[in-house]
Amino acid sequence: MIKYLKREKVFVLNGKSFTYALFVNKADFLQNIYFDKKISKNKLIEIANAADAALPCAEDKNFDMGFDKMPTEYAFYGRGDYNEPTAVFERQDGALFSRFRYKGHKIKKVLPQLGVMPCVRGAGDTLTITLKDDFSDVEINLNYTVFAKYDIIVRNAEIVNRGENTVKIRKAFSFCLQTRENDLELIRFYGRWAKERMPEITPIGHGITRIQSIRGTSSHQLNPFVILKQKRCKERTGKCLGFQLVYSGSFAFCAELSGNDTLRVQGGISDSFFSWNLETGERFITPQVLIGYSDKGLGGLSSGYHDFIRNRIINPDFAYKTRPIVINNWEATYFNFDDKKICTIIDAAADLGIDTFVLDDGWFGKRDTDTTGLGDWFVNENKLKGGLDGVIRHCRDKGMSFGLWFEPEMVSEDSDFYRRHPDYIVGKRGVKPAMGRTQFVLDFTRKEVVDSVFDAVSAILSRYDISYVKWDMNRSLSEYFSESLAPDRQGEFFHRYTLGVYDLAKRLTSRFNDILFEGCASGGGRFDAGMLYYFPQIWTSDNTDAADRAKIQWGTSFGYPISAMSCHVSTCPNHQTGRTTPFETRGNVASLGPTGYELDLTLLTEEEKNLVKKQISDYKRTAGLVLTGDFYRLCDPCKGDAFCVCIVSKDRCKAYLVYTAFTDMKKEVKIKIPCLDKKGTYLIDLSDERVSGKELTSIGITVSALKKYQSIALNIIKLQE
Ligand code: GLA
Repeated sequence: MIKYLKREKVFVLNGKSFTYALFVNKADFLQNIYFDKKISKNKLIEIANAADAALPCAEDKNFDMGFDKMPTEYAFYGRGDYNEPTAVFERQDGALFSRFRYKGHKIKKVLPQLGVMPCVRGAGDTLTITLKDDFSDVEINLNYTVFAKYDIIVRNAEIVNRGENTVKIRKAFSFCLQTRENDLELIRFYGRWAKERMPEITPIGHGITRIQSIRGTSSHQLNPFVILKQKRCKERTGKCLGFQLVYSGSFAFCAELSGNDTLRVQGGISDSFFSWNLETGERFITPQVLIGYSDKGLGGLSSGYHDFIRNRIINPDFAYKTRPIVINNWEATYFNFDDKKICTIIDAAADLGIDTFVLDDGWFGKRDTDTTGLGDWFVNENKLKGGLDGVIRHCRDKGMSFGLWFEPEMVSEDSDFYRRHPDYIVGKRGVKPAMGRTQFVLDFTRKEVVDSVFDAVSAILSRYDISYVKWDMNRSLSEYFSESLAPDRQGEFFHRYTLGVYDLAKRLTSRFNDILFEGCASGGGRFDAGMLYYFPQIWTSDNTDAADRAKIQWGTSFGYPISAMSCHVSTCPNHQTGRTTPFETRGNVASLGPTGYELDLTLLTEEEKNLVKKQISDYKRTAGLVLTGDFYRLCDPCKGDAFCVCIVSKDRCKAYLVYTAFTDMKKEVKIKIPCLDKKGTYLIDLSDERVSGKELTSIGITVSALKKYQSIALNIIKLQE
């Protein structure tokens, strides 16, 4: 899959349907020459020859200017390249300029290991190319892994200091990629709290477009995932590329269209306010990026990510394991509960067939409002008489499992933990830190802080019978400063914080390896492949309104599998939006992921209880599809009058379709179900109709007469021949 054409100095990397090719030119610079559908070796050699001829002063080993025309594979700074660099290093004398040339390479099967940093699981064919700076003893190892089964290249870079003096890394992105294709558009996924990952398509203008988070988390505001697409690329046709970071901290992507119409896309850890002192012999490892390729439109790109994340990122012990159907008490009670109230919710849940109760915020310390108690990870026995034992026993007696909420990275000013360790928080002594949700952030750059949280959380997880943990994170960072870092190392703060989070996640998830961890950050504020490495599912958004949720889940599905999107049915009027939608619609939207309920079940009417029972038994039929199926986006809720998606099993024997109207339907619509067996016959469960696969794929299913926010869900089952 990875070949080196020695005579021509061309590296050929083949994925399932693409070729990615690099070339060491006459002056020993590494260029990207091709990234598109598979092509022959001879064609690549022609392209390489043309690239060499196009170099300014190609014959002259010492040529100095004009590098912004060269599609360099990892861009240097201050030596004839006037576009954004990929990495910048400051030497002891303050000099910043660099120029990287090919030094050597290795091709072998590698099992990547990045310490606590999440990375792709399992070995893959890997090419490592070493570049050397002309002006210092810095070397860069560029790693590329490709797979016969996937249209994904995994890349990252390692910066190595082979000199005798400290080098200050000012910037070290994970990748750089250049193309001369024009007419490209960028899709970013923007948002805010309760409105995460809204796709926005824009043309790429000249100059720099920068997508970033400098909040210390991957953020609600912009996701560490972007797509570059041909203008004519649609859901199922055309070419597009995806760039997804396996990283949960501050990040940046940068797309720069130069005056020469070359587009340079690059990204990694945000270089805003970043620096890292690299001592002699040390290496700095950048996060991996998953570069996706599709010539089958945006849908093809998404499916590639879904399969890859399920098979190569998410913990294999959970990736395909049936997820619990949860009742979470947050929107039912907020902080206002006691053991009696909790037990009535558990009773109601057990009667309805729900299998796991998750006790949310408020069970610990003196946590009666969001102003106190965070960090005090011991049971509030005033609220829960009989402690957690009583509640857990009650769950078990009812045949249910028990889950618990934590916010490990935070502390309230009014907490015993903070009174004991006022020096454990992020920020500068003597400067009162900014409050976010009346809480401070713990300084996870420090091992002793992470250790103390590990001990406290472990004590609870080892003492009680807990099968599920919701790990929350409810504010952005501020006063980016750690008392433990030397003044010239404060630029390391953000990345060290992220490594601290991964360290705790790694220790907790490996020690308690049978607990399902769900990620959360005020909803979907840290929804990324880095988190998914440790947490098989993430609370998609605090917005549980079915109409808004449909849009959020739609946007999230571009980069992430639905098995990672935790979805709950909540009450109406909805607590975030005030909107009322039918109970069925809320159930249908929440059936498109690991599902659950987030409302006071004791207040349900008999009719609603029957609906819950039906939803649960229906969900059990489609739960396998949620975990393993191919997901198709059919009607865009962000643009049109409806939300429609479909999951099809890999063997094409089963499909599940959800359609929700966003306005009163005036006429019927036909929904074509993609990728069924055209020769087969299918049964549509609601109507008992038998329809041929050919008709379902080419003419479609008729949907009609739905009122605004009404919804239908259909199972489509292939009949045995
Ligand atoms: C965040 C989460 C919610 C809930 C609250 C509790 O907002 O996203 O689901 O857990 O915290 O404080």
